[in-house]
Amino acid sequence: MSDSRNMLVTSALPYANGPIHLGHLVEYIQTDIWVRFQKSQGHTCYYVCADDAHGTPIMLRAEQEGISPEALIAKVSRAHQEDFAGFTIGFDNYYSTHSKENQHFANTIYTRLRDAGHIQNKTIEQAFDPEKQMFLPDRFILGECPRCGAADQYGDNCEACGATYTPMELKNPKSAVSGATPITKTSEHFFVDLSGLQDMLKDWLNSGAVQESMVRKLNEWFEVGLMPWDISRDAPYFGFEIPDAPGKYFYVWLDAPIGYMASFQHFCDREGLDFDAYWGKDSAYELYHFIGKDIISFHALFWPAMLHGAQFRKPTAVFAHGFLTVDGQKMSKSRGTFITASSYLKHLNPEYLRYYFAAKLGNGVDDIDLSLDDFIQRVNSDLVGKVVNIASRCSGFISKRFQGRLAAQLHDADLYQQFVTSGAEIAAAYEARDYNKAMRDIMALADKANQYIDEHKPWVIAKQEGQEALLHSVCTQGVNLFRVLMGYLQPVLPQTAQQAEVFLQAPFAWQAEALLDTVISPYKPLMTRIDRKLVDAMLDTSKAEFEAQQAQNKTTAQAPASESSSNTIDYDTFAQVDLRIARIVEANVVEGADKLLQLTLDIGEEKTRNVFAGIKAAYPDPSVLQGRLTVMVANLAPRKMKFGISEGMVLAAGPGGSDLYILSPDEGATPGMRAK
Ligand code: 2FM
Ligand code: ZN
Repeated sequence: MSDSRNMLVTSALPYANGPIHLGHLVEYIQTDIWVRFQKSQGHTCYYVCADDAHGTPIMLRAEQEGISPEALIAKVSRAHQEDFAGFTIGFDNYYSTHSKENQHFANTIYTRLRDAGHIQNKTIEQAFDPEKQMFLPDRFILGECPRCGAADQYGDNCEACGATYTPMELKNPKSAVSGATPITKTSEHFFVDLSGLQDMLKDWLNSGAVQESMVRKLNEWFEVGLMPWDISRDAPYFGFEIPDAPGKYFYVWLDAPIGYMASFQHFCDREGLDFDAYWGKDSAYELYHFIGKDIISFHALFWPAMLHGAQFRKPTAVFAHGFLTVDGQKMSKSRGTFITASSYLKHLNPEYLRYYFAAKLGNGVDDIDLSLDDFIQRVNSDLVGKVVNIASRCSGFISKRFQGRLAAQLHDADLYQQFVTSGAEIAAAYEARDYNKAMRDIMALADKANQYIDEHKPWVIAKQEGQEALLHSVCTQGVNLFRVLMGYLQPVLPQTAQQAEVFLQAPFAWQAEALLDTVISPYKPLMTRIDRKLVDAMLDTSKAEFEAQQAQNKTTAQAPASESSSNTIDYDTFAQVDLRIARIVEANVVEGADKLLQLTLDIGEEKTRNVFAGIKAAYPDPSVLQGRLTVMVANLAPRKMKFGISEGMVLAAGPGGSDLYILSPDEGATPGMRAK
């Protein structure tokens, strides 16, 4: 074992406006395996992460849901942490970029960069939504592609023909927020001037800190010279206000990686650790970031530039990985292959996926494919058929014939030694993030162990008289070979390994002495085979989640740009809508729903109507609605919602999102009257 090291490891911070899905999990599983491996080698290795809580999409999402951004990020953070725990991602600390520590470090880094002359101000032109009174990020402008004319393309590139352009080049551009036509407006922005940091960055990139394929990619940036990096955004923006610039906010990508520091500071405060030993300019400790290849420029250009310019240490290395495909294709919500962590966990053991990803992951940036049939086949044949099987084939005899006590000697000490010696190469593969090699080596050993059992046939010896000692030592051999393998798999299968420790009544240690003359517990199955039905049920859950989300978006989302153009309907279509005056007999909050109120409506018919309306934000105390008149659509097809059946819709209006106020008729109108 090498000398003890001090390491700090991070995974990219997930945005606080969406669920964790299997694409994210490639990275968290990859990192968690590495951290668990480092811990198993006796190193001090901390793993921190946080939610990435700032930016326009999160601000608008909260508005759409009718809650504050703080409430949204708190809700999402809880869900993220539940998903991570479900996959046993063992963070030492999980935090948020919307924290006092992060504001402190963002301000520190900014003022140090400014005082060192690395900040420039420039006035730039940007698309502005005149209705919503906000500048629009490119992804919030939709229009026709200037090259091929495809409709509903985003403001930065065309998904139909691949053209890239500026949002103002789009034909008939519309704000995705309000539907208004954006105008061009100027504003002063703050930039990090990277020109003086270029040589330092090149040296750092060529020092082995970044995979070669990524360095080649990043070299393209140097060919044209590094442009100043825009780090400010105008209000309204959910983020930190820039200390000396009221109304200007740090761009989310400025404070996101700083969140690594903030989470670690929060951890240091709790544990009494020395933050500067890890982040100080001359730190001898190791700092690693695991990320997806799409965010390499933020981590291997802007981030080291910020750290260096603000007199902090730079990362020891940035490890990028590729994307996940499912059955050879991009994950798709409608096909059900956009699988969230929670829908996976409803049906399948998380360790199946941890193993499958490990078996597929190398240290490069190639995409990895989750082929569902291959997933089932590999888990069943490797983990259940090879590894767990060794224990089940031998331990029954130990329990039944030897009162659970292992023999005092191995049957084949050389074979055991071979297994132990192989640990060095397996460790090297883990260290190099060549998990696929580590898994291949471990499975080759598992084959050997099974071969050994096949050759010595304990079930045959068990029937022969006078062969007790042989049976005892052969089974003890099998149990010990299993133990070495489980020790090697422990970074990948922490839960199964823990159950195996209970079964063996002994903790794992890398390259351990054999367990002899000790008592083990009766064997309970450590893992069961995957049935295709479970995978199909998971896909069904994913599809259903997507459909429910779509239905919800329809009731709460603001009109997308393409639907807000001046389309007209004819009179007959209008006349089909049965608008009725309704009296609100009862209005109640709906347990577990953020936006909904449940209304009981009298529309002059014998039976009252039950309607769920997304108006809770405007009426936190629903009793104020009781007795009031409103207008409802009475012939809307009943809709099954999570909380019950909604039998119509009330008319409400508001500035957007779920800040909606119900419409009331003038005096004289009574329940049941038809609005025309
Ligand atoms: O791409 C993303 O999902 C970002 N939220 C990752 C941020 S990583 C770090 F810089 F905070
Ligand atoms: Zn196009």
